[in-house]
Amino acid sequence: MKGIILAGGNGTRLHPLTLVGSKQLVPVYDKPMIYYPLSVLMFADIRDILVITRPAELPQFQKLLGDGRQLGLNISYASQEKPRGIADAFRVGADHISGEECALILGDNLFHGANLPSLLRRSAQRLRGCVLFGHQVADPRNFGVAEVDERGRLLSIEEKPERPRSNLAIPGLYFFDGTVVDTAKRMMPSARGELEITDVLRAYLEDGTADLVWLGRGVTWLDTGTHETLLDAGRLVRDVQHRQGTRLGCIEEIAMYMGFIGADECHALGAGMSNSPYGRYVMDSARSYRQGQPPARFLEET
Ligand code: DAU
Repeated sequence: MKGIILAGGNGTRLHPLTLVGSKQLVPVYDKPMIYYPLSVLMFADIRDILVITRPAELPQFQKLLGDGRQLGLNISYASQEKPRGIADAFRVGADHISGEECALILGDNLFHGANLPSLLRRSAQRLRGCVLFGHQVADPRNFGVAEVDERGRLLSIEEKPERPRSNLAIPGLYFFDGTVVDTAKRMMPSARGELEITDVLRAYLEDGTADLVWLGRGVTWLDTGTHETLLDAGRLVRDVQHRQGTRLGCIEEIAMYMGFIGADECHALGAGMSNSPYGRYVMDSARSYRQGQPPARFLEET
């Protein structure tokens, strides 16, 4: 399965933080925001990943992540000239997808929780047309919203409804079959002038091939699009890391435990940042792996 991280947009809600740089490179506590969605794709065992950015910021992402080889990944880049909407990712990324199944994650979405890796891998395996996720939130008006019947079957999908039919928000992570590029090409811009992801999802719903997977209470999902939610995300990462002595979104460690790179390579990546607690954590993690900590436990607890 191919992966896409959508990391463009103007980030106007985060001004002045994003006046001279990309929102998805803004720090969430101890690492750039894009590490978190990247780690989600890695947990889903996706290694061929396209990062879509604004043209001016593409070199910064390349400098940060390179071609991904150091993580056992294949990372390529494409630029989106204008923020034409989330579904535009399928037009910009058409060559990358090239008729294969694909996962799209928004570059400002952060997920954390028990069993997330296995949930993602199971969802990818059961893909018929598309898989979207549902997460209960107190106020869903700023999100895509899913309506379900009493058996949890998907009934409707709406983008930022004034009167939501449920509290089930749709996070920015989706799995699609190989026809998504053709489906997206049929879409017209919405009243606000964007190619809406919810229109693509609705097309699958109408075909009877959209599956909703509930992210239960064990999973935390944050969209880091405002100053408040950015701070919330940073606090969450800090609190979990301090309490557990682990790191969220640590792409070097995940690459090692997923078997994409070996412990020596992971250690070398940490050594390159050994002046920071993050770098030392990566080195420690490689050392414990060599001593035989079971990977399955790591993956299920993340
Ligand atoms: O976070 C989940 C929500 O994301 C979903 O529930 C909604 O259905 C979906 O429309 C989206 O809503 P947002 O209002 O959060 O979308 P936003 O315009 O903020 O874009 C989300 C990310 O995608 C952001 O990091 C910028 C990037 N983006 C967005 C657009 C429209 C692009 O890279 N290019 C674009 O053209």
